[in-house]
Amino acid sequence: MSDPGNITWHEGELSRAERFDALRCNGGTVWFTGLSASGKSTIASALEARLIRRGIHAYRLDGDNVRHGLNSNLGFSADDRAENIRRVGEVARLFADSGCIVIASFISPYRSDRDAVRQLHEDAGLAFVEVFVDTPIEVCEQRDPKGLYKKARAGEIAGFTGVDDPYEPPTRAEVVLATERTDVASCVERVAEHLATIGLISQ
Ligand code: ADX
Repeated sequence: MSDPGNITWHEGELSRAERFDALRCNGGTVWFTGLSASGKSTIASALEARLIRRGIHAYRLDGDNVRHGLNSNLGFSADDRAENIRRVGEVARLFADSGCIVIASFISPYRSDRDAVRQLHEDAGLAFVEVFVDTPIEVCEQRDPKGLYKKARAGEIAGFTGVDDPYEPPTRAEVVLATERTDVASCVERVAEHLATIGLISQ
């Protein structure tokens, strides 16, 4: 953590264990990464619904949505993407510390940015689960629900991930989802099973 100068960390009176026990919850972050139109948001949304319907406190942070508010001043340069992920990583850590299961869904194309968020959670003793939504660019481009690949190929968007901007696939994701061969419900089950295995939820 950088030293902000002249401010002091104020410890609350509750321990994390006391908070989680009293609220019967558990906090951690499930981080979906992958290309635009890979299926991140669809799977994240279905996972959120599955958890909430079982009474598990979960909340989704989505790239397109967060860029409407908290990060509306950021674009898609490498620096802005890094700042996007840094801010969301901090927000995720706070939510997770409060006892929420955060379901973050961001392209987050740079490994170093994702690793920094992982480190932030590990330093805070909070679970961080990286889920690689591994959909080949050809498939994403075929889907193109927002018509953005078409625009990028036509030169109407510069620096589009996968077209003329990099995507660095995870090397140590806890879960890899091959969405070409796996439907949304099965992807959700795969993630939920992993969360149960590490004790973040009970099945
Ligand atoms: S990230 O790279 O900073 O993690 P984020 O997940 O917040 O991206 O936002 C990605 C979404 O922004 C895409 O799904 C797409 O709808 C939109 N978008 C607009 N311009 C770009 C671009 N140049 N590259 C990628 N996505 C873009």
